[in-house]
Amino acid sequence: MAETPRFVEHARDGDVHVLRIANAPVNTLRTEVRAGLLEGLKAAAGAKAVVIIGSGRNFSAGAEMTEFGKPRVPPSLTDVFDAIEASPVPVVAAIHGNALGGGLELALACHARVAAPGAQVGLPEVKRGFVPGAGGTQRLPRLIGLEALKIIVGGEPVSAEQAVKLGFVDAVVDGPLEKAAVDWTRANAGRQFTLARNRTDKIAGYDAAAFDAAVKPLTARTRGQESPLGCVEAVRAAFTMPFEEGLKVERDQFQRLVAGEQSQALRHIFFGEREAQRVPDLPADAKGLTVNKLVVIGGGTMGGGIAMSAANFGLPVTIVETSAEALEKGLKRCEANWERTVKSGRLSQAEYEKRRALLSGTTEFEKAVGEADLVIEAVFENMEVKKEVFGRLDKAARPGVVLASNTSTLDIDGIASATKRPELVIGMHFFSPANVMRLLENVRGSATNATAIATATEVGKRIGKLPVLVGNCDGFVGNRMTGKRGPQVEKLLLEGCLPQDIDRVMEGYGMAMGPLATGDLAGLDIGAAVRKARGTVAPIADAVVAAGRLGQKTSKGYYDYDENRKRIPSKEVEQIILDTAEKMQVRRRKIEDQEILERLLLPMVNEGARILEEGVASRPIDIDVIFVNGFGWPAFRGGPMFWADRMGLKAVRDKLAHYAEVTGDRNLQPCALIEKLATEGGSFATLKRAA
Ligand code: NAI
Repeated sequence: MAETPRFVEHARDGDVHVLRIANAPVNTLRTEVRAGLLEGLKAAAGAKAVVIIGSGRNFSAGAEMTEFGKPRVPPSLTDVFDAIEASPVPVVAAIHGNALGGGLELALACHARVAAPGAQVGLPEVKRGFVPGAGGTQRLPRLIGLEALKIIVGGEPVSAEQAVKLGFVDAVVDGPLEKAAVDWTRANAGRQFTLARNRTDKIAGYDAAAFDAAVKPLTARTRGQESPLGCVEAVRAAFTMPFEEGLKVERDQFQRLVAGEQSQALRHIFFGEREAQRVPDLPADAKGLTVNKLVVIGGGTMGGGIAMSAANFGLPVTIVETSAEALEKGLKRCEANWERTVKSGRLSQAEYEKRRALLSGTTEFEKAVGEADLVIEAVFENMEVKKEVFGRLDKAARPGVVLASNTSTLDIDGIASATKRPELVIGMHFFSPANVMRLLENVRGSATNATAIATATEVGKRIGKLPVLVGNCDGFVGNRMTGKRGPQVEKLLLEGCLPQDIDRVMEGYGMAMGPLATGDLAGLDIGAAVRKARGTVAPIADAVVAAGRLGQKTSKGYYDYDENRKRIPSKEVEQIILDTAEKMQVRRRKIEDQEILERLLLPMVNEGARILEEGVASRPIDIDVIFVNGFGWPAFRGGPMFWADRMGLKAVRDKLAHYAEVTGDRNLQPCALIEKLATEGGSFATLKRAA
């Protein structure tokens, strides 16, 4: 007799056979699960019906992605689905938690689906760079028609309740799910179920124009990503071809995309985001402090955004300001922001009121800080001011409370030196707009202890952020690397580019916004002030600022802006560039797109490698995760270090050396780590494994 497979448990409830997927934590459909389901279906012979359910907190998160790229071990999911569809008795999926990707495809192959209230169902494959590969693109349209496009091309899950409305979940059932599902199945066992593959009503009368109109909003902002288009073609096949042929189109798209660079990049980031949140050298028992009350010092741009993030995730928060006026202004800005979200329909009035009730404000510094479980400071970016504030914080906060600073450039050790608890001082560097951006660079000072790190990490996650621990240095990781791009932007402008050329190349690569448009958005006076403080010059940037062109806030910067803030190439800026080049006797030439891309990305890679040498970032993946989540780097390109690995570090070294020579920018001299890896034939990915 065959042993009961470990990854699928069996139970009998009267004449209903129950198969429980048991592959903690998320029931991915690894080989043993697929084999277990197949055997389970055989073992169920004689039952009146079969219920497939997940153990633990989920139905199934889908395919086991670590099996991708390895030799395929049968049975395939399709084998399992064939067996379900050939079953003489109905097979019903009982969904709780998540049914995603292959998990939902499994459910779609069943005769019917029931779900617990609040369960989430979706096909997120597009976000990992491929298409659903086990019939999802063929079965879902047969159940819900064109609505399937949004789910497959958009990749966002929907609730079970919405799925019932759309028509691909049969019922939401109350009470303990297994029992409720068995009861539902028994009550419906006499029904004539039509398998999704045999339905034709929702795909009849294919209208190419209507189809394309439904696709358009879904692909408008995909910026060169291939998988949404692959999904579109697979879904189109559901409407235009017989089931088996449609499956073949889907399979071709899946195989092509899954082997491609974009999907590898997206999976690199998907796993990287989990890895980056695990701090490598933290003792296993390090635990953060319990935080029930957050206090944010300063209710400006950043303080307000941080406070909103806390309230958005249910954490009570108080903003401390210096005057009643500043406080009122800060709170009003938060309210206005939430109200806009309510107006747009993305937030209910009740939820807004709940969030607003969690946010309070005061000018009584000592009193509020005395009640804080964690303080995050977001006052002006000035060391004297920060030291004064931290001295006061240290006296007012209870012993043991962590004091964090949102500084974007200042030395954490300098700030900590104003306190008697430097071990509990840490940087929590949020990104603007802080209520939107996911990235949180937690900055470890030389004295920062494990409790402070664990507290910042846990609170960061709790308020919806993706915390990455970095070391204390000028600019930390993200801004430090981006800063190395600036001199090349200036040189490219001088040697032959216009702002629109550079931004076109970077946006064509997939960046949310090119560097010059980004400068205009942030304000060009900021960079000018930094150059002044550091005693450096940038002839073109300085001339643009001198012409009163400070960016969007003056309606002109590197571009002109119309009343809708649309950028328009500027004749004045072009003239400034030509004049500067002439004055500096630079002969302008045509610069190829590839050179623009390399000269902007390679300096960042070089600095990233230095950051690794210094231990400011623990792993290359941390850097990639930072860029994707805080700097508009397209996830489907995998981040700067992934990009460099793709190019090959030998080529990276040679190109850096070449550009260092022709541009005279010493920063482009390949750093020791790149030299070493290039010589050894290594990569950043292998470095990660060695660490
Ligand atoms: P901001 O000027 O908008 O806000 C600062 C607020 O702090 C003001 O409302 C001011 O009244 C208040 N404040 C000053 N001293 C105070 C005190 N002793 N007690 C209580 N409140 C006080 O500045 P912003 O942009 O919010 O920046 C704050 C910090 O965040 C700075 O350290 C900055 O470097 C950092 N940061 C800024 C980013 C940005 O994009 N703006 C991004 C990441 C970090």
